[in-house]
Amino acid sequence: MNQKIKTKPDLSVNFAGIKLKNPVLTASGTFGYGEEYAEFVDLNRLGGVIVKGVSLLPIKGNPPPRIWETPSGMLNAIGLENPGVDAFLRDKLPYLRQFDTAVIVNIFGYSLEEYAGVAERLDGVPGVAGLEVNISCPNVKAGGIAFGSDVRASHTLLSAVRRATKLPVIAKLSPNVTDITGFAEAARDAGCDGLSLINTLLGMAIDVRCRRPRLANCTGGLSGPAIRPVAVRMVWQAARAVKLPIIGMGGIVTGEDALEFILAGASAVAVGTANFMNPRATLEVLSGIEAFLAEQGIVRLVDLIGKVDAG
Ligand SMILES: Cc1cc2nc3c(=O)[nH]c(=O)nc-3n(C[C@H](O)[C@H](O)[C@H](O)COP(=O)(O)O)c2cc1C
Repeated sequence: MNQKIKTKPDLSVNFAGIKLKNPVLTASGTFGYGEEYAEFVDLNRLGGVIVKGVSLLPIKGNPPPRIWETPSGMLNAIGLENPGVDAFLRDKLPYLRQFDTAVIVNIFGYSLEEYAGVAERLDGVPGVAGLEVNISCPNVKAGGIAFGSDVRASHTLLSAVRRATKLPVIAKLSPNVTDITGFAEAARDAGCDGLSLINTLLGMAIDVRCRRPRLANCTGGLSGPAIRPVAVRMVWQAARAVKLPIIGMGGIVTGEDALEFILAGASAVAVGTANFMNPRATLEVLSGIEAFLAEQGIVRLVDLIGKVDAG
């Protein structure tokens, strides 16, 4: 007789003090501020929404073309276009906080002061569950090298954000580094509550007939299924290096893709580029996870976190 457990599996996760009803989140910049997808997805069903990056002042972004499709992925150079933190609080957050889902605000800046300024502005705001700090931005005052490509600069930046807010701080690491573990340790030492990885990989595509880059910005961020093995590897390495909970992302399209990240050590996952191919991708990932757990007779998702048998 089939002895498999019939009750619905428990998908809830406590992520750095943020209660998630399930581990499926939206990756920043691929789901707008939630409202853009609300006709396709009941936002109440998501574990959380990580909003598009928010800066202290409005940013216009890069000139077009900003997007180029690549094999199993895409390159983007949107340039972090956004209306700024005040407009976000006035025009975007009130809509989003009506839903029973955790709202995590992705923040960025071009100097330490800008990052700390946005973090301060969001501190204590009702409806904001936590901050995800995109550290893959150039530090304009230090000659434009990305904060997230230098361990010391990452530590200094994340410490400044930590001091600016009581909210849970999740460091979103850049994959454009040689050894991710040093950056995971820097985030832990700066007092961060969690990690998010990976952001896009720096790439470039060229139109050989025009002899010009496909993107007006020349280079862009590579995302989608093409980057998934890199992302799973980095989550696995980071999870072994530090005890912080991790949001894993990079090319997730199905429930089984998401479970690779969970087994590698992520406590939650974010769906990004897949939303552009299928606006209901988040819900399909969720039902895929549920079906897998039911099939395997696993009662609690948390029992799978980090359980890859790597020998
Ligand atoms: C069009 C686009 C815009 C993005 N904007 C942001 C952003 O504002 N802040 C950020 O931290 N990451 C941003 N990302 C990175 C994603 O959140 C995610 O880390 C990355 O795309 C990998 O996941 P995916 O392969 O599922 O898309 C963006 C990605 C894309 C494709």
